[in-house]
Amino acid sequence: MLDEVISSLNLRPGYTVLDATVGGGGHAIEIIKKICPGGRLIGIDADVAALARAGETLQSFAGSCRLIHDNFRNLDVILDAEGVQKLDACLLDVGISSFQINDGDRGFSFQHDAKLDMRMDLGLERSAWDVVNRYKEEDLAELIRNYGEERFARRVARYIVNERREKTIDTTEQLRLLIHKALRLRRGRIDPATRTFQAIRIEVNDELRALEEGLKKAVEHLAPCRRIVVLSFHSLEDRIVKNTFKAYAARGDLKIITKKPQVASDRERVSNPRSRSAKLRVAERI
Ligand SMILES: C[S@@+](CC[C@H](N)C(=O)[O-])C[C@H]1O[C@@H](n2cnc3c(N)ncnc32)[C@H](O)[C@@H]1O
Repeated sequence: MLDEVISSLNLRPGYTVLDATVGGGGHAIEIIKKICPGGRLIGIDADVAALARAGETLQSFAGSCRLIHDNFRNLDVILDAEGVQKLDACLLDVGISSFQINDGDRGFSFQHDAKLDMRMDLGLERSAWDVVNRYKEEDLAELIRNYGEERFARRVARYIVNERREKTIDTTEQLRLLIHKALRLRRGRIDPATRTFQAIRIEVNDELRALEEGLKKAVEHLAPCRRIVVLSFHSLEDRIVKNTFKAYAARGDLKIITKKPQVASDRERVSNPRSRSAKLRVAERI
């Protein structure tokens, strides 16, 4: 949804823009082309590997960009340190990137057998291994239910806890097979491990609370008549975006541009399966 994102941001030369999830810089390079000359892009990412890729993508605009390794929940402090009081546009393209999913060493996906990790920021103390091997059964069940929307969360949690009495659960494949055992008759089109993996990843990176905090701070830093665009990839994220926009709109601080979230075109859904769950919401500061 690159074109939709870029056009929704209403960019002009000279703008100061925050790309709060700069990733490999795919959106950022299109943003910077629209705001130069005179514009400035601040790119944040929690993942240093992503920032390295963004640095390469944005190399020819290095003088107009600042790339910062941090969590976007700290964007107020980051903008303050950069001397930015108001933003002319802000993008959040939340969740994980296909690079992170496909990096076999990061342990995000059961498609690659790896040590359970799932940290976007390798400086975080708690990894997926700690969640799976150390959390109490009730806490595991609760997070698998709340963050994975898994109906059989208690059953999955029980299987995890029983297994780790024998030996630690160290790898994505070990966890995937265990979830399959727990949900043995409940296979569908989607791998039954998907929901539990999503839940553990959200917990490890504290993704929903970070989104809530970062989104509010981003809205509060927007200049009047300027836009915020958020791309999310599952219903829990989209609900936070919808409710945050609504709350600011009710106070008269935001105008919601997308009454319903925009979704990917049929053509994009075929060429890029990940776009099937993407939801785009746009709002403008009053
Ligand atoms: C879907 S990708 C963004 C891709 C990017 N728009 C591009 O064009 O390449 C999401 C990125 O956001 C980062 N991320 C997710 N949550 C974050 C957070 N709370 N703070 C900072 N970065 C975060 C991830 O590390 C990942 O690189």
